[in-house]
Amino acid sequence: MLVVSNRGPFRFSTEPDGSFTAHPGGGGLSSALRPLLTDPAVDACWIAAAMSADDRAALHAGAAHVPDLELVLLDLDPDLARMHYDVVSNQVLWFLHHGMFDLAHRPRFDRHFSEAWDAYVAVNRAFADAVVARAPRDDVVLVQDYHLTLVPGMVTEDRPDLRVGFFTHTPFSGPDGMRVLPAAAADALLRSMAAVPCGFHTERWARAYTASVRELLGPHVAPRAYAASLGPDPAELTEVGGSAAARSALDELEALIGDRRMILRIDRVEPSKNIARGFAAYDRMLEAHADWRGAVVFVALCNPSRESLPEYLAYRDEVERAAAMVNERWGTADWQPVVLDTRDDFAGSIAALTRYDVLVVNPIRDGLNLVAKEGPLCNTRDGVLCLSPEAGAFEELADAAVAMHPFDIEQGAHALHRALTMPVDERAVTAAHLRRLAAARTPQTWLDDQVAAIS
Ligand code: G6P
Repeated sequence: MLVVSNRGPFRFSTEPDGSFTAHPGGGGLSSALRPLLTDPAVDACWIAAAMSADDRAALHAGAAHVPDLELVLLDLDPDLARMHYDVVSNQVLWFLHHGMFDLAHRPRFDRHFSEAWDAYVAVNRAFADAVVARAPRDDVVLVQDYHLTLVPGMVTEDRPDLRVGFFTHTPFSGPDGMRVLPAAAADALLRSMAAVPCGFHTERWARAYTASVRELLGPHVAPRAYAASLGPDPAELTEVGGSAAARSALDELEALIGDRRMILRIDRVEPSKNIARGFAAYDRMLEAHADWRGAVVFVALCNPSRESLPEYLAYRDEVERAAAMVNERWGTADWQPVVLDTRDDFAGSIAALTRYDVLVVNPIRDGLNLVAKEGPLCNTRDGVLCLSPEAGAFEELADAAVAMHPFDIEQGAHALHRALTMPVDERAVTAAHLRRLAAARTPQTWLDDQVAAIS
């Protein structure tokens, strides 16, 4: 089996003695598939981009290897890689599929975009060539996400023997969104996807894709779309939750929270995650319900992300300002209402998931949101999930979550208050239901569904 994704399952760091250490890569995609594909019983190859100077150094030193997995890192031309990743993938396709364009001003497809589009095609070609060169006859090839949308079309053309599938981890924009793209780009992306079965985390994104193909490519092209959501790996959560690092992070957290209630969110610093409006809803709740002042702490674990883009740097400022405003307005000598932590600490995040009373997941739009499923499986306090109906996970978890509208601050404040005041017995019943729903899918069922779709 061959997996192809832009960000790989491991990143490398250079040690003072010149050796290299492999660390697990970030993002739900790589953490879900890594344990399955590094199983010694599975014969797998993973093709990804070398994403940092350290990755490249490890590659050049012949040290970009990990046990039990054939890892192939592509050494892409840095200018092409930047235009592929920053411009087309993250400034255009990510914004498009998450409905984040402010259409009166952006996007603007000028000659710089044409150059970036050529880079996107070239990088997709490099990935496709790597697949074509390595895949044994009739092998299964699972291409992941919007960075590599052209790969399925390229590979099926060159190697019709291969069984290729494409999985999209983001939402899908639908026909109106696709029409924003230059016509030739929209046509190329959809034609490539239509060449293979395409998976999404929810029926909603699958329907949006099918409608896009029907409306933009016409009735003679038949899209093959299916929904197969990802679920957390319970074994990994238990292992990390029991580690010494998680135990000491939990002690730190207990000291911080004391006997107050704890609201938690864990996200990349990412505009689609809607972090600033989450703080606005909390601020409004503190305004409307004086009882909560001094009695609750909102812990926001927000890892910096995509900081090569001005949009993300500006959003980080906005998030920091929004947290500071709540703290200035309500904070006292012995109470800080919002604790914003931008360290990237996996064990600390899992520890926080065991301890929350309320978990906030309020994205503008989200392909799935794995934290919404990981939280209930880790939590030991019958915590309540406040979940945006725009997160893919809402399709599965709605029955046991408190809906939190991503744009309606009044409703958001009410949702937080309702979650904090839910009676103990209702919390217990709801949390048990939520655990069942969150555990229904695993990385293995998700992988099996992808393979079944192309067989
Ligand atoms: C999302 C995408 C993944 C991506 C991850 C992290 O989950 O679906 O494809 O890898 O974000 O983003 P990054 O840009 O850091 O790879």
